[in-house]
Amino acid sequence: MESPSIVVLTGAGISAESGIKTFRAGDGLWENHPIDKVATPEGFRKDPSLVHQFYNERRAQILDPAITPNAAHKALAQLESDYPGPVWVVTQNIDNLHERAGSKNLIHMHGEILKIRCKKTEQVFACHESISTESNCSCCQRSGTLRPHIVWFGEMPFQMDEIYHHLGKAHLFISIGTSGNVYPAAGFVEHARECGARCIEVNPNPTYNPNFEDFRQGVATVEVPKLVNELINNVPKRNTPEIP
Ligand code: APR
Repeated sequence: MESPSIVVLTGAGISAESGIKTFRAGDGLWENHPIDKVATPEGFRKDPSLVHQFYNERRAQILDPAITPNAAHKALAQLESDYPGPVWVVTQNIDNLHERAGSKNLIHMHGEILKIRCKKTEQVFACHESISTESNCSCCQRSGTLRPHIVWFGEMPFQMDEIYHHLGKAHLFISIGTSGNVYPAAGFVEHARECGARCIEVNPNPTYNPNFEDFRQGVATVEVPKLVNELINNVPKRNTPEIP
C-alpha cells in the first residue's frame, strides 16, 4: 500500500512570529514598496539599484542572528521526520527558516533570498552580502548581470512539475499562513482536493476558500505544533477523488 503523504504550503504568516513582515498586512512589505517597482522584471530593468536595495535589506534581515525558526517551522521538520509517509513543504517564502528548522523535503517555489543568479548563464550562487549593479559576477566576470534569485510577478515559479506531482499523490494538504492571493500557489488547494486530499487551513484570518474542509484559526506557533501532534498520532485516510 502507498504510504500516506502530506503536502504543506507555507506563506509569509509562518515566519511572522520569527520577526519577518508579511506582505499584505496593514504595515506589510507591499505597503511601502510598490510591487511593480521592486517585484517585477520591468521594475528591475527600470531601476536595478532600487530592486537590489530592497532585496539587500531582506537578505540582511534574514542574516540577523535575532531571526530564528519558530515553533511552527520546527513542528513541520518534526512532522517530516516522524510521520510514516513522505512530507513535502512547498514554501512561498524566500527566507531560510524551514531548512534551519530541519526540513529536508523543501521546495522554495518563489526563490531564495540567500541566492543570486547570473542573467547571462542562469548559474545560481550562494549570496550573503549586498549586491549592486557594480557587483562582479563570478561566472561571466561582468558587472550588471546579477539578479536576485527571486520569482517576480509575471515569472514562472520554480519546480512546478514536481509540486503538482506531489499534490496529485497527497492524502493531506495543509496551507499555513498564506492569504491565497497569488497564483499558482493559491490554486494548489483546489488541485489537491480534486485529486483526493483532505485540506486543512491554518491562519488567524480565514481565506474562506471552500476547498478547505478544516480550518484551524490561530497563529502558526500555536496551531501548527498542535496539528502536527494530531497527525503523528493519527494517520489520515485518502478521500475518494471527486474527478475521475
Ligand atoms: N500565523 C499564521 N498566519 C499568519 C500569522 C501567524 N502568526 N500572521 C499572519 N498570518 C497570515 C495572514 O492572515 C495572511 O493570510 O499570513 C498571511 C500572509 O499573507 P500575505 O502577506 O499575502 O503573504 P503570502 O500569502 O505568503 O504571499 C504570497 O505574494 O507577494 C507575493 O511572492 C510574495 O510569496 C509571496 C506571495
